Order: sequence, then structure tokens, then C-alpha cells
Amino acid sequence: MRGYSLLLHLLLLASQAAAQLQCQSFAQIYDNGTELCENMWGDAFKVVDNISEAYTMWFFDDQNPNAPISQRLHPTGNTSTCNLQYLHKTLPTAEGDDFTECHPWKEASCCSSNTANVTNLLNGYGPGYRWDRCGTLSQACERFFVQEACFYECSPHIGLYRRYGGHACDPASGQCTNVHNASNPGHNTWEVFKMPIRRDYCDAWWTACRNDMFCSNSGGNYFACALIPTTPNVTTPPPEVITNETTEEKEVLAPGLIALVVILGILLVAVAGFLCIVYRREKSGNPIFTPLKDRESKMPSQPSIAMVNGKVDV
Ligand SMILES: *[C@@H]1O[C@H](CO)[C@@H](O)[C@H](O)[C@H]1NC(C)=O
Ligand SMILES: *[C@@H]1O[C@H](CO)[C@@H](O)[C@H](O)[C@H]1NC(C)=O
Ligand SMILES: *[C@@H]1O[C@H](CO)[C@@H](O)[C@H](O)[C@H]1NC(C)=O
Ligand SMILES: *[C@@H]1O[C@H](CO)[C@@H](O)[C@H](O)[C@H]1NC(C)=O
Ligand SMILES: *[C@@H]1O[C@H](CO)[C@@H](O)[C@H](O)[C@H]1NC(C)=O
Ligand SMILES: *[C@@H]1O[C@H](CO)[C@@H](O)[C@H](O)[C@H]1NC(C)=O
Repeated sequence: MRGYSLLLHLLLLASQAAAQLQCQSFAQIYDNGTELCENMWGDAFKVVDNISEAYTMWFFDDQNPNAPISQRLHPTGNTSTCNLQYLHKTLPTAEGDDFTECHPWKEASCCSSNTANVTNLLNGYGPGYRWDRCGTLSQACERFFVQEACFYECSPHIGLYRRYGGHACDPASGQCTNVHNASNPGHNTWEVFKMPIRRDYCDAWWTACRNDMFCSNSGGNYFACALIPTTPNVTTPPPEVITNETTEEKEVLAPGLIALVVILGILLVAVAGFLCIVYRREKSGNPIFTPLKDRESKMPSQPSIAMVNGKVDV
């Protein structure tokens, strides 16, 4: 019985963990690269077909191909400063020879070499933001997460799309502001809003990752996934983030429910049997429950108690 309840407990824990972080392949989560880029990062990116009006998250050229894009789309935007602030430097400056991970930005980088380090890019935002929460990614796939992290931390162009205080914001949308109000607690300095990204870049990301596993909660939204605790809390159940139960969860829970119903059923039968015996013994003038002083003289009739025990043991 002890072993079985431990098993039940483990099953329950496993089902909780599965309900919290719903791991699926990229191809199951996102239909294409557009869905990947537009769902994974909330409202940060939008996918654009015209490569003359969209940014890339990586490049090999001596010249940053994003510079002419900003020039075309935002001629008065200032890319000599690092508008975003998370782990960013204030100004985009050249980095030294230890700057290898995010090498495209070496000559004008908003990230320091300490930030631009794959270990720190993976761990820098807290345990919920690790990209390997559903298992180690293939190298082909992980490359794109490193590229996105480098682009976010190092590019002087992404800051034009800051949600609160971004040059690119169209205030008519009502979803972003051109001016950052420091006394408004809703205005952060790190969020990006609808930066146009090349479709071919997003499609390549999807192709590289299609068989890897990722968190599918809220359509594969990194920020929603980050709210789900890393390890199930054994002593207190973690907050329920997912409201709609999955079918897997129901299937795993079923054996536990069946066991509970069976145990309750056995107890009911036992209690009914016991009451029945009590009733019959009362009727036959040989009651089980008699005042203590009478009881000693009736000791020989005790076997009836053993019979009741025998029933409970079924
Ligand atoms: C990507 O998938 C979505 C959802 O199925 C679809 O609406 C959209 O047209 C697709 N986009 C491209 C470029 O194929
Ligand atoms: C792509 O963008 C460029 C620059 O804004 C524009 O001149 C060109 O007409 C666009 N091409 C298409 C097919 O819309
Ligand atoms: C861009 O920002 C930098 C740093 O704040 C500043 O020194 C420079 O004057 C600005 N350039 C323009 C054109 O506003
Ligand atoms: C990244 O940074 C960590 C901690 O600062 C350090 O231990 C590690 O050696 C660095 N990795 C690389 C590849 O520089
Ligand atoms: C900035 O935010 C504070 C707090 O929400 C508000 O009282 C104030 O009016 C805002 N200032 C501007 C210029 O919008
Ligand atoms: C587990 O629950 C306790 C009490 O609510 C909380 O303090 C702790 O942070 C939780 N641990 C995790 C890993 O969520």
C-alpha cells in the first residue's frame, strides 16, 4: 500500500510538471518562421517580406546590413546610442579580442564581452529564460538563440524599437510611446515592439529547429513559458498558469482517481457490513456494544470482532 501511494504521488507530480511546461517540437508549435518570430517573443518582432525594409539578426559583412535599413526607415533615429537598457552598455563602442561570441558587432557593440558569452546569454535572464528547458537543443537550433540574444544585447538598431520611448513607435497604435516616462511604473527600458525582421531569417530559424523541443505554452511564447517554475515545487503546488487541462493530464490522473474510488468503495462495504452485524447481534439479544461492566462476562463471544476485521481486510 505504501509503495502504491508513493507511485501515485510520483504520477501526480509528473502530471503537474507536464501540465506546466508543455514541450513540443518547433514544427508542432509554429507553422512556419513567421509564427516562430511573431509568437516566441511576444510583440517584439514582426515579419516583413521586403528585405529593404527589414532587419536581420546576424551577418558576416564588414558593414552592418542593418545600418542602411535604419537609415531608410528612420533617417532621424539615433543609432550612436544604445537606446535599450537591460544588460546593455550606454553607447555602442568597439570591443577587444575576447569578443568572439557576438563577433558581428565587435566594432560598435552595445554589449560587453562579459555579456556576449554563450553561458551568460543562456543564464543572464533567470532560469525561466533558458532556451533548453525542454532538453538540450541541437547546435543548428541553438545558434539562432545565441544570434537573437547577441542581436538584442549588442545591436544599436534594435533600441529604435523600444516600446516605451522608441523612435520607431507609432503612438497612434496605443501600444507603445515615443517618450519614456520614468515615473510611470508601466514603462520599462528593455521591451521591444514590432521590429521588422526579414522573413528568410525567421524561416531559416524554423528550418534549423523544426525537430527540436521547445515550450509550447501560449503558442510558444517565451515570456509566458518563463512564468512556469523550473522544478515542480514538492511541498507546495506551484501557481496554476495553464487554465485549460490537457488530455495527457487527465489520462495520467485517471489511475489515481480510480484507486481513490475503489478504496472508498471498500470502506463503504466494510462499514455497511459492520453495521449489519451490529444490527443482527442487537436483534438476537447478543449486542457487541455493551456497558463495560457487562463486557467481561461476554468475552468468549469476541470472535465476531475478528469476523468484522476479516471483512475490513478484503
Ligand atoms: C504561416 O502560418 C500561419 C498559420 O498557419 C499562416 O496564417 C500564414 O499564412 C503562414 N505564413 C506564411 C508566410 O506561410
Ligand atoms: C521594398 O522596399 C523598398 C524600399 O522602401 C521599396 O522601394 C520597394 O518598392 C519595395 N518593394 C516592394 C516589392 O514592395
Ligand atoms: C545620439 O546620441 C548620442 C548619445 O546620447 C549623442 O551624443 C548624439 O549627439 C546623438 N546624435 C543625434 C544626431 O542626436
Ligand atoms: C563566460 O563567462 C563565464 C563566467 O563569467 C566564464 O566562466 C566562462 O569561461 C566564459 N566563457 C567563455 C567562452 O568565455
Ligand atoms: C508620467 O507618469 C506618471 C505616473 O503614471 C503620471 O502621473 C504623469 O502624468 C506622467 N507624465 C507624463 C508627461 O505623461
Ligand atoms: C516553493 O514554495 C515555497 C513556498 O510557497 C516558495 O517560497 C518557494 O520559492 C517555492 N520554490 C520554487 C522552486 O518554486
